Amino acid sequence: MTNRIDTTRLQDMARAYTTSAVLYTALDVRLFTHISNGHNSEAALTQETGLRPVDVDRLVSCALSLELLDWDGENLCNAPDVETYLVEGKSRYAGAWMMFTRPDVSGWFQMTEKMRQPDSTKLGMYDELTVESARKYHQATASIGFGAARRFVRTVDLSDRHHLLDLGGGSGAYSITAVETFDGLKATVLDLPPVVVATEEYIADAGVGNRVTTLGADFTQGDFPSPVDVVVMASNLPIYNSEVIGGVVARSFRALEPGGEMHLIGEMLDNDRRGPVDAAMWGMNELVCGSEGRAHTRGECEQYFRSAGFVDVEVTDFVAGTLARCFGRKP
Ligand SMILES: C[S@@+](CC[C@H](N)C(=O)[O-])C[C@H]1O[C@@H](n2cnc3c(N)ncnc32)[C@H](O)[C@@H]1O
Repeated sequence: MTNRIDTTRLQDMARAYTTSAVLYTALDVRLFTHISNGHNSEAALTQETGLRPVDVDRLVSCALSLELLDWDGENLCNAPDVETYLVEGKSRYAGAWMMFTRPDVSGWFQMTEKMRQPDSTKLGMYDELTVESARKYHQATASIGFGAARRFVRTVDLSDRHHLLDLGGGSGAYSITAVETFDGLKATVLDLPPVVVATEEYIADAGVGNRVTTLGADFTQGDFPSPVDVVVMASNLPIYNSEVIGGVVARSFRALEPGGEMHLIGEMLDNDRRGPVDAAMWGMNELVCGSEGRAHTRGECEQYFRSAGFVDVEVTDFVAGTLARCFGRKP
């Protein structure tokens, strides 16, 4: 029997933007927060949101069919991930991150024009950062960065390490979490000068100013603080091309003491480039944001490490389907 093909998948893809739009609007009108607070009927939601009943009906139908909402008897309830991450006021609220790329929507729909008339710089969107925009940016990254950092310290034992260098450390999530976990560890967050002003605020809030310092610098050039015995670079891999990433890895190698280790955490493609989709899309995001970045494969990342001189190089899943971690040790 031959496999029947149809247009369903292609039609879904052609209108995939509708899914993003529904999620943004649900967050705008605080749909999930209202439901979590007990306003779990359409009548109550109409009252709380001030929307017309027909629009609540439309939104609820979309949210139910996208499995953002479910029925609990006669009442509406949030799906478990929605209840954990999309209810305002909850400790793991990640709405800021979900909204983070919303301003890029029109850019994604100009992709063809952008490819035909490319206009990019090495740093892309990071060329124009101000202290204010960096604060806003890291409000969003922190809402998921600290969760990722907790996963990192559960996965990697740094109890014998003394000094971590956190390249592009942003909110300081990895450094703050690492020094809170490992008693003997100090950390330096290296990030662009406007960003480290915001980083200092996160460090002060966490009360770890005696163990985490910052350095305002561009990691695409210059030598790194040395000696250190751990380097982490998390969630900025697709921003840069192979030449830049290879250079960062090589300069990290130089900054490390013998026996030191580096972890590169980011969205990486499988070697045949058939996924994950998210990694490919973050690479494309750099067209939209105007940098020279692209999606890198796991094999390419291993090669940057080996070329720099690292041994025991391996890539493992960090968050399956999203983030991978490339490890290497300096002999
Ligand atoms: C997505 S954030 C990740 C922040 C943090 N590592 C985390 O995982 O929560 C990317 C960070 O890389 C920083 N960055 C990008 N390019 C940089 C450069 N050339 N030099 C220093 N920092 C850079 C950005 O300013 C931003 O703070």
